[in-house]
Amino acid sequence: MAVVIVIDDEPLQRGILKAILMDEGYEVYTAESAEEGLKIIGEQDADVVLTDLNMAGMTGIQMLEHLPDVPSRPAVVVITAYGTINSAVEAMKKGAFDYLIKPLEKDVIIHVVAKAAERMALLKENIRLHNELFSKFNMDGIIGRSKKMTEVIDVVRKITATPVTVLIYGESGTGKELIARAVHYNSPRKNAPFTPINCAAIPDNLIESELFGYEAGAFTGASQRKAGLIESSEGGTLFLDEIGDLPLLTQAKLLRVLQDKEVRRLGGKDTIKINVRLIAATNKDLEKEIEKGKFREDLYYRLKVVTVTLPPLTERREDIALLVNFFISKYNAEFEKQISGIDGRALKLLSDFHWPGNIRQLGAVIERAVLMADTTVISLDDIKSELKQPVSCGIMDIEIPDEGIVFEELEKQLLKQAMQKANNVAAKAARLLGMSYKTFWYRLEKFGINIPTGTRPPKDAAHGDL
Ligand SMILES: Nc1ncnc2c1ncn2[C@@H]1O[C@H](COP(=O)(O)OP(=O)(O)OP(=O)(O)O)[C@@H](O)[C@H]1O
Ligand SMILES: [Mg+2]
Repeated sequence: MAVVIVIDDEPLQRGILKAILMDEGYEVYTAESAEEGLKIIGEQDADVVLTDLNMAGMTGIQMLEHLPDVPSRPAVVVITAYGTINSAVEAMKKGAFDYLIKPLEKDVIIHVVAKAAERMALLKENIRLHNELFSKFNMDGIIGRSKKMTEVIDVVRKITATPVTVLIYGESGTGKELIARAVHYNSPRKNAPFTPINCAAIPDNLIESELFGYEAGAFTGASQRKAGLIESSEGGTLFLDEIGDLPLLTQAKLLRVLQDKEVRRLGGKDTIKINVRLIAATNKDLEKEIEKGKFREDLYYRLKVVTVTLPPLTERREDIALLVNFFISKYNAEFEKQISGIDGRALKLLSDFHWPGNIRQLGAVIERAVLMADTTVISLDDIKSELKQPVSCGIMDIEIPDEGIVFEELEKQLLKQAMQKANNVAAKAARLLGMSYKTFWYRLEKFGINIPTGTRPPKDAAHGDL
């Protein structure tokens, strides 16, 4: 039941109000001055305060001004004498919920306090929901409130408790490993190993011995038995990053391991039962790799039980401010700095940037800014040298910045701009860039720029006269 604090310097009135409200089932505390009332409000997590306005010492209005300006502050009902209605109006302006006029009537008191208590119950429920939602957005340091990230986090929550295989898609630096770790560390497997392996970083001739292990004498140089990474992740999670780079033969062996739930070391006869969850990640389009004969279709279907697609940062710019604050706190703690925030112009630059390195790049920019900033607020000067400006206007006035440019990025920007300028009429855009129509299409496809449907040239034409 709601907690009500009655503040009145007249003992008789205090007593009557207390009796009426206790009868209604409220938990009631009384105070004989505003000062004492404030103290009790703080101690009791009050829902409703019923206070007289004219009291010796601090008045009811002054007490209102002393209440903390937080959403959970109690609803205040002021009691005013007939003829002093102006002070009730003033109290309402200061945030009182309602007022009662003396002489008090029992029914009115009960009605007004009930209304106030109901409002507080609603408010508290809202605050609880908000907190719950907010903690959800911050699952294990995964920052993001955009629709796309919220959807990702929802999926992650649903799959952590299950043993299903997960396939994570995303450009470099979008958080694929972060998601994989979140799945593992929120799953019942969290006390067993999480083993990340970057398939692109291990030479083809070593990947199998790394994954499956080997017996002594399996190949030249295998002097003693070694367990593979699959085996040593027993009970835990194996994270195969860049799975699109796994050689075809290894793909076949991996599929068998997944299907049979057992592994055989290279040169070994016996199989070893395993219980390992697989999470795979890639920034390649695996369906295209299948078409090219570079990825096994059967493995693909085995992997994509659940897929999670991480949006590039430019598709969730509304998360940038949140991420910036997150990284400021993180690097404040790391470097023992006290940066309090970022100014508007700097945030605007970050919000408009094209972020080829996604969140990893944003993190690095803020890390450097926190380290270098001379004042407590990050400004344009602290970040601008780190950001290569996207080409923003006429083709002729491109200035090469001191750090140099990534030529392909520049080309991509130009292609996009030309399409925009030509209202998505490809022939016109090609003319603007002095390219043949076919060359233009080839380059759009190469950079994966969205091609408006209906304007695509015949399939064999795209690779024609280059
Ligand atoms: N939503 C996020 N909230 C907070 N930090 C993030 C988020 N996404 C990514 N990061 C941080 O950005 C960095 C890059 O993330 P991660 O290594 O997971 O990316 P990746 O997709 O695996 O990149 P790559 O393809 O280059 O391997 C990490 O420091 C990670 O903690
Ligand atoms: Mg990674």
